[in-house]
Amino acid sequence: MNLEIVEAKLFAGVVADEIAQVLGEAIEERGSATLVLAGGSTPASVYRALAVPPRIESVQWEKVRVYLGDERWVPPNDALSNFRMASETLLHNVQARGDSSRGFRVFPVDTSLAGSNQGSPKSSARSYEDVIRTNEGSGGRDSFPEFDLVLLGMGDDGHTASLFPGARVEAGPLVGVVEHPTEAHKPGGTRITMTADLLTHARRMFFLVTGEGKASMLKQVLEEEGSEAQYPARLFKRAKGAVTFFVDTGAATLLSRSAGTAS
Ligand code: 6PG
Repeated sequence: MNLEIVEAKLFAGVVADEIAQVLGEAIEERGSATLVLAGGSTPASVYRALAVPPRIESVQWEKVRVYLGDERWVPPNDALSNFRMASETLLHNVQARGDSSRGFRVFPVDTSLAGSNQGSPKSSARSYEDVIRTNEGSGGRDSFPEFDLVLLGMGDDGHTASLFPGARVEAGPLVGVVEHPTEAHKPGGTRITMTADLLTHARRMFFLVTGEGKASMLKQVLEEEGSEAQYPARLFKRAKGAVTFFVDTGAATLLSRSAGTAS
């Protein structure tokens, strides 16, 4: 695991540069790249930084396929939708590039029926699993596609994607449904999430963690004991590929080790 501690004001640009670089390497090696986006608020500034010149021009978007790591069971135009946030900060800008983004493919979780009597989170999770298998190679039930880059956030309770402490993921193996432990009956409380098994098969994982409010949990997750069930962000311990935690100086306040130290 690599730890990169970055000044808050440089955070978005530094992480956006790294994302562009990893996508470029994947395209060079395999001819295309897959990117799994995180939701929540932290990545928005990173997506915006990636969506402006010269960075946006540095990526061959027509060779990129984008997925969402988790989504709330709300319609895609809802303010709580991760897809809406990603569209407004990054995806629309890429799609607006015309010819140079032809072939750019985005695979949102289908939540178009949320709020109606039809459809269900479970059938949407199953469809998303089919979409992933169809586009990223299927293999048997026990095989897992390897995304080139998975972006993840971390909550101050140690959750990541929509994998919450003590919450059970229904279905899978690639995508499941989770009820938020305390907000299950609120809008967006039902989540559709990639499973830890799928996320940890990625070639690269970037965790984006900012703000002093997360300092204590970040220390717990990186430096103390605790199971993945208690602190789901500890799934990074069983990652098959390389993991980098991008952390701003606020979130790093309580860490005892310095930037760049490997675990
Ligand atoms: C979401 C997420 C979630 C998020 C963390 C951190 O949809 O909310 O995928 O795991 O990354 O909760 O959220 P913030 O960046 O808003 O603190």
